[in-house]
Amino acid sequence: MAAPDDFPPRTASYEAEPGDVHRVLLLYSGGLDTSVMLKWIQERYEAEVVALTVNLGQPGEDYDVIEGKAKQLGALACHVVDAREEFARDYVAPAIKANALYGGGYPLFTALGRPLIAKLAVDHARRSGCDTIAHGCTGKGNDQVRIEATVATLAPELKVIAPVRSWQMGREEEVAYAREHGIPVKGGTEVAPYSIDDNLWGRSSEGRWIEELDHAPEDDVFGLVTRPEEAPDEPEVVQVSFEHGLPVALNGERLELVPLLERAAEVGARHGVGIVDHIEDRIVGLKVRDIYEVPAAAIILPAHQELEKLVGTIHQNQFKPQLDRQWAYLVYAGLWWEPLRADLDAYVEHVNQQVTGTIGMKLYKGSARVVTRESPNAVYDAALASFAESGGLFSQTASPGFIELWSLQSRLAWRLRQENQSDG
Ligand code: ARG
Repeated sequence: MAAPDDFPPRTASYEAEPGDVHRVLLLYSGGLDTSVMLKWIQERYEAEVVALTVNLGQPGEDYDVIEGKAKQLGALACHVVDAREEFARDYVAPAIKANALYGGGYPLFTALGRPLIAKLAVDHARRSGCDTIAHGCTGKGNDQVRIEATVATLAPELKVIAPVRSWQMGREEEVAYAREHGIPVKGGTEVAPYSIDDNLWGRSSEGRWIEELDHAPEDDVFGLVTRPEEAPDEPEVVQVSFEHGLPVALNGERLELVPLLERAAEVGARHGVGIVDHIEDRIVGLKVRDIYEVPAAAIILPAHQELEKLVGTIHQNQFKPQLDRQWAYLVYAGLWWEPLRADLDAYVEHVNQQVTGTIGMKLYKGSARVVTRESPNAVYDAALASFAESGGLFSQTASPGFIELWSLQSRLAWRLRQENQSDG
């Protein structure tokens, strides 16, 4: 059996010493990496494994099959947790209120999911007497940061192992290991598949030709969104209603958040909406390309942002995007439990108290565009905004006086520079 000195030395205090690993909570997806891990951990550490699979609304999963596979591979138990509601309410909803996009295009679905998955891993590890949590992240990504930062923060008594980061297996060796150990490998094994991660807020693909920056997206990467060229010839307008910043209805029909997001994703996907071909600065330093499919976010986020702009003052509207950016960065960077995030949330919540109303989004062959706005809280008065003289609250004769004072410092500075230039 494995001698403990076969293991690479630990570099962080929360990493497990091999001798301390007796029962492991494995974050299990049913895919190749985590299936190989399930066996490998039993073999290498002579440890027991409890599997945990978290449902965040990733389409097309058969959880009975995943559970059966885990047990067949020797798991003591396989817990399947439906966390869709908690994910939508406590993670996606704050992201909507913060108009959360990282790098101008990524709505953070994976980054939002990881702290919840890791929190559930902590809960289940404690409940089932595990000393260690194992995950299938590589050493090159953001997800290891998000998961391990969460575990180290919430459960200092638990340790972490990340076998994919330390074992020396490439894909071919993993497939060979799987064959040797009776682990079913689905699909063809000749071509490495895309690396996919998804939940109800979006789907990402990485790997293969995506790593070639001059390679335009091939059709087979799209698993969610219809190719815009094949989307319906007729546009469709979706009315998105918000109360206090939270989406509550589509086309006038009130829906709970999970079905609302699912419905938005469905109609967006049909119209080819939400394809993002994204260059991204990972927190561990790498620059990578991701192909995202985010049909729900592509409808809900611009609708929310438009409504927020309508009910906010010029000063609020100047300030909020700075804060939104900081929020998105913290969450992207794996610092969900950082107190600044909660501080920012308090402001975001307060601003969103006014964000009630309905935005019409027109979907057509890949685009989603705001076409109508309606809110009882709009800081908008049609009579004031029109070109006619309005009297009352706004007097056009006051404007020249305003301009004189408003431009005063700029005019003085301009004059000074002109004088200095002619002097020199
Ligand atoms: N680039 C995105 C992020 O860092 C998506 C990562 C997807 N994760 C994965 N294991 N394939 O959040």
